[in-house]
Amino acid sequence: MKYKINNLEQYEEQYQEALSKPKEFWNKIAQEFSWSKKWTEVCEFDMINAEFSWFKNAKTNITENCIDRHLKDKGSQTALIFEPNAPKDKAEHISYNELHKRVCKMANALLALDVKKGDRVAIYLPMIPELSIVVLACARIGAIHSVIFAGFSSSALAARINDASCKIVVTADGGFRGNKTIDLKSIVDEALKDCPCVQHVIVAERTKTEVKMHPSRDNYLNDLLQNASEVHEAEPMDAEDPLFILYTSGSTGKPKGMVHTVGGYMVYTAYTFKNVFAYEQGDVYWCTADIGWITGHSYILYGPLLNGATSILFEGVPTFPNPGRFWDVVDKFGVNQFYTAPTAIRALAKESLEYVERYKLSSLKVIGSVGEPINEEAWQWYHKNIGKGNCPIVDTWWQTETGGILISPIPHVSPQIPTYATTPLPGIQPILMDNSGAEIKESEGEGRLCIKYPWPSIARTIWGDHKRYKETYFSAYPGYYFTGDGARRNKDEMYRITGRVDDVIIVSGHNLGTAPIEDAINEHDEIAESAIVGFPHDIKGNALYGFVTTKSDIKDEEQLKKDINALISAKIGPIAKLDKIQFTSGLPKTRSGKIMRRILRKIAEGNLSDFGDISTLLNPEVVKQIKDGRDA
Ligand code: PRX
Repeated sequence: MKYKINNLEQYEEQYQEALSKPKEFWNKIAQEFSWSKKWTEVCEFDMINAEFSWFKNAKTNITENCIDRHLKDKGSQTALIFEPNAPKDKAEHISYNELHKRVCKMANALLALDVKKGDRVAIYLPMIPELSIVVLACARIGAIHSVIFAGFSSSALAARINDASCKIVVTADGGFRGNKTIDLKSIVDEALKDCPCVQHVIVAERTKTEVKMHPSRDNYLNDLLQNASEVHEAEPMDAEDPLFILYTSGSTGKPKGMVHTVGGYMVYTAYTFKNVFAYEQGDVYWCTADIGWITGHSYILYGPLLNGATSILFEGVPTFPNPGRFWDVVDKFGVNQFYTAPTAIRALAKESLEYVERYKLSSLKVIGSVGEPINEEAWQWYHKNIGKGNCPIVDTWWQTETGGILISPIPHVSPQIPTYATTPLPGIQPILMDNSGAEIKESEGEGRLCIKYPWPSIARTIWGDHKRYKETYFSAYPGYYFTGDGARRNKDEMYRITGRVDDVIIVSGHNLGTAPIEDAINEHDEIAESAIVGFPHDIKGNALYGFVTTKSDIKDEEQLKKDINALISAKIGPIAKLDKIQFTSGLPKTRSGKIMRRILRKIAEGNLSDFGDISTLLNPEVVKQIKDGRDA
């Protein structure tokens, strides 16, 4: 792909071009793809009514660009490497030729079940090759895929299936995760008691556990594939046809089904993958996310495949069979780009360094972070022990709603500042808003992060609820996309994401972000992880409550509490000191690894029963422990 950014000058050039002539800029980038019909207009938008169209009236199919386009030159190159959960099981290398055949076959299998363009297909699969293949097959026939992370409960699954009126559910008999086996089919059976829209269930075989098949509804995937042809002409799609729906965790209320469309999503994920990971032909790229999240959609599948890359699909977890697993896989395949989440980095940093030292990790060129602010200690650990001090860290900031990375360093181009996502990519115009709703014009400042101009992969709507889309993202600051995040900008115009703005706590009239306080605490040698929430206080308005997990048994609790507050005082100021500290064995997390602060807030407030929707909670046992040990 042209438009690769190789140095700071080129970055500046592209940034300025995208700023002053955005349509010309994206017009040039979009030329690199294969379209059966070109656009009549690069982009039309209305930021007040939240309406966007990119590459208007153009026709293409994203799978032609992900697969068919590469067959001539790199048909025999590996597209996907499947690394199974158990290290003793053999990895599977799927070439572009084979991927093409398997996606076409799957497309024909879906067509045989009468899946039509525009129909919604729910995909509830573990991280096995079939997951990628079904996703791509949907895209090939124009069905809208809705991948639901295979860790969601039956009620969460049912809610998502019904919201999008899915006609088909694709699942597996079960899935392996570490030393656990999850009976996915029985979860689907339970969910479907409440889903009248579903006509067929397709069952892939992974664990070979016995499952109950409903004769008129359920089909084994292998049976469907047996008679399916390997030939399939990709359906020409309008650039603005929906490609997929993906539900965001949504801290409150009903999950939001974010809708992404074909053309803009394709152009933007390809462009950002190429630049953020500095991918070069022949590299092996690994993103450890699950395809059930946006990171997996954009940067395991679409972005890498659009660039003809080799991308690893990992079924397992970072700590199985031991905490060296990630590093084992890196050495095994000679991974060049490695992309993971701060929560995984922190968990692994807690373990003995021996698990890292066993491996060379010499193939790594770029290492990445995504999903939450990376604290300084984790950043330094990652940089020193995994990047060996010479791999740029790309701290990529983006959201399910943005489709692709918006703010990130570019390796060997942008300066590295720990905990900073640094600079916006070309085409992205971030601004900060102050408390009164006015734009902060000075370089240096802190406020609410908004985006001024649309980019090709901005979500188009919330499925079935455009009003909610407009209200959630475009009404707080009319004319701007509101991210829901706070950010700090330094004098060099580098951005540091400080966290969700709903995590800001006002103590004695001072705005305190929880993320910097947590960063300060986490620097303590004994501390593994922490979460700060506010609770009502008679004099200060709010006071701070810290939930803190330690790396090992605590020798002197009172002393450690004093140390924590001394550290906060030193790093931020006495105003940020914690009124209450509770040591816990873990923190309540969503299945995607985010701390469920809502629950902690309730506990801190003394409200020990009404936790609202906890369908995404991974570890309910921790909540019970925290309740029992509350610092009253
Ligand atoms: O708060 C930001 C945080 O994750 C949110 C988006 O979550 P989700 O839609 O699940 O997508 C996660 C993967 C893109 C953001 O609003 N976030 C994401 N990346 C970063 C981040 N916070 C700080 N630094 C990041 N690099």
